[in-house]
Amino acid sequence: MRTLSFGFSRRTFLSRAAVLSAAATSPALLLGQTSSGSKRVILDLDIGIDDAFALLFAHYSPAIDLVGITTLFGNTTRDKSARNACYIKERFGIEAEVYRGAAAALHHRLGEPPVFVHGEDGLGDTETINPTIRAADLSAPDFIARTIMENPREITVITVGPLTNLMLARMLEPGIVGRVREVIVMGGAVGFAGELGNATTVGEANAWNDAHAMDSLFRFPWPVTMVGLDVTYAPDASMSPAYVEGLKGRSGDAGVFLERINRQYRRFYRSSRGVDVTFQHDSIAVAYAIAPELFEIKRGKIKVLTDGVARGQTIFCPQGHHNSEDPEWADLPIHSVCSAIDGPGFLKLYQEALFRAAGPVV
Ligand code: BDR
Ligand code: CA
Repeated sequence: MRTLSFGFSRRTFLSRAAVLSAAATSPALLLGQTSSGSKRVILDLDIGIDDAFALLFAHYSPAIDLVGITTLFGNTTRDKSARNACYIKERFGIEAEVYRGAAAALHHRLGEPPVFVHGEDGLGDTETINPTIRAADLSAPDFIARTIMENPREITVITVGPLTNLMLARMLEPGIVGRVREVIVMGGAVGFAGELGNATTVGEANAWNDAHAMDSLFRFPWPVTMVGLDVTYAPDASMSPAYVEGLKGRSGDAGVFLERINRQYRRFYRSSRGVDVTFQHDSIAVAYAIAPELFEIKRGKIKVLTDGVARGQTIFCPQGHHNSEDPEWADLPIHSVCSAIDGPGFLKLYQEALFRAAGPVV
């Protein structure tokens, strides 16, 4: 077994060095946890306001050991996405490196980023995003592929943007399918709660942004859990202005930052859905990594439509369905899809993590 690969945070390095000798007797370590029991996570984002909430949630959660931050196009451009990650890394002292990834989907033509959701800078246009640090030289797909290969069954990948980086990593190194610990995907919607799409009528944004990549993801037998709009639009998991004010009051500079960037996101949800709350899609995927017991799961096969008016639509065939041996579906592996969430449980978990950030406001 190779020891530590490049790019790991000092915290990961220390914990891994300390635990190598104990690994044979510690089942938790063999399941990809550090000595403190935290999961070793690569977080793949198209940063994005709700992505920023998710990154700080992962950073401040003791249950997560962030080993790398990978970025790509989606909510904003490839370069702004990497820059936003560097900004958050620098401002909040995140040790994990940032790796810049895909500028566009595998096959779709690149569209305009949704500035009406996330602002011109991708973070709600309230801060001066001018980090002094830059992304690492290695590309995001390279980092993902190499890290998983060098740390078999230890790495959890959480994707909260288009699936392009992860599927490019699989093309670089097909062996990651058998070596990743788990893949948690914010994306898609199968209709458990009546939601089918947000980018279009039936296309969730991450699925729609690279439908080929997401469809390909579900064709491989890695352990994937889809955290879609079915749970991320749960009203009782949304953040009210009072809740975000509470973060601002008790989470130091992190709370101040989140309240400021949330203003644009709030305007978007007020105008698009007529509600004064914000839906934290990406943090809910991070919550699944930390506390899967907050979710109900259904098992089955998933396809993503790649073209036309239904581009990005995710179709779910439940395990045991009489049609699941239809030639169109027969060879697909079974995956997990979140069908319900304990919303208050999620909000409590998020708050507990962010309150750990309390410190001097800059
Ligand atoms: C997803 O699309 C992006 O806009 C959000 O950041 C989230 O990952 C929601 O559909
Ligand atoms: Ca996102």
